[in-house]
Amino acid sequence: MRTSTDSHAATADRYRAFAEVEARGMSACYEEWALGVAGDASTLALINRLPPAKRQPNLVFSAARFRGAAAGPYPAFADWLHEHWNPVEQTCLSHATQTNEAGRCATLLPALAAIGGPLALIEVGASAGLCLYPDRYSYRYRLDGNQGGGNQGQGGRERMLHPATGESAVVLDCAVSGPVPLPDRLLEVVWRAGIDLNPLDVNNADDVDWLDALIWPEHNDRRDRLRAAVDVARAEPAEIIRGDANAEIERLVSQAPAGASVVVFHTAVLAYFEEAARREFATTMGRIPVHWLANEGQSVVPGVMERLAQPPADSTAFVLAGDGKPIALTHPHGLALEWLG
Ligand SMILES: C[S@@+](CC[C@H](N)C(=O)[O-])C[C@H]1O[C@@H](n2cnc3c(N)ncnc32)[C@H](O)[C@@H]1O
Repeated sequence: MRTSTDSHAATADRYRAFAEVEARGMSACYEEWALGVAGDASTLALINRLPPAKRQPNLVFSAARFRGAAAGPYPAFADWLHEHWNPVEQTCLSHATQTNEAGRCATLLPALAAIGGPLALIEVGASAGLCLYPDRYSYRYRLDGNQGGGNQGQGGRERMLHPATGESAVVLDCAVSGPVPLPDRLLEVVWRAGIDLNPLDVNNADDVDWLDALIWPEHNDRRDRLRAAVDVARAEPAEIIRGDANAEIERLVSQAPAGASVVVFHTAVLAYFEEAARREFATTMGRIPVHWLANEGQSVVPGVMERLAQPPADSTAFVLAGDGKPIALTHPHGLALEWLG
């Protein structure tokens, strides 16, 4: 029989692992908070009142910040959390981790451009849909000089790309290596739509505040980008239907306009699926007439890892796959793109 001591130990391990593997080097505040929780029996007891799936450090810390906790030393955070546990608990129970990172468009853009337009974009696991606007953002690609094609010898150089209407308020920085086919201009997108279990609404202030709270404390550049990307999405709303990807994808694909290249894509989503659901989704993608772009953790998409020539040196890198074949390694937030030859 599992005792509360076992379950405290399991939660402590979870927070320690989060501190050491995910937060270290990314957020000094979350690293300190997670290590603090791991060694603090009374806070572990509080968090263990939540169902196991809701004890995730990222969810609890985001909920606390959503409810007003200030980034700062652990003892002050722990005091605050005990005082404000009820609202934090409500937020944990009613919300999920749905980080929406427009920066991922920088790693999708070359693959989307290679498909050729006009494009009908369908994003699976769209959250608030901020990755549905790759044609509305500006890009600053930093070249390492090994890009091939017309880009040789441009190490240290930048390639800027802007929407046809001029520079966007959202400028995405991305370091590129390998023979990446950077396009000369942005895409033509004629239709955009998404599916999510719980779509977030860019016109709902609470939803936008939740997306803000999901961004880690020190990442102010991402916070600024979120607000600017929300303005882009508000100007040109995309329909995001509520539902499960496997249940809804074929119906949504059938609604895409004739004459467009239909692209189904997803980033940081399939990890949330059960194994059988991932296989079902991959099988559907192989069966229906769409282009499929998957930008996910390394072992997430069935069959992709096995097709890599060698395992990536960085275990946190995502793999971008086109129709099930790996084409690039990508930074999880879109800061780097390594095209595989
Ligand atoms: C981490 S967010 C990623 C959002 C966005 N793709 C991005 O890269 O910024 C994962 C999203 O997938 C959604 N999701 C998870 N399982 C899903 C499913 N079975 N069907 C549809 N959406 C799902 C979640 O609700 C969440 O909004």
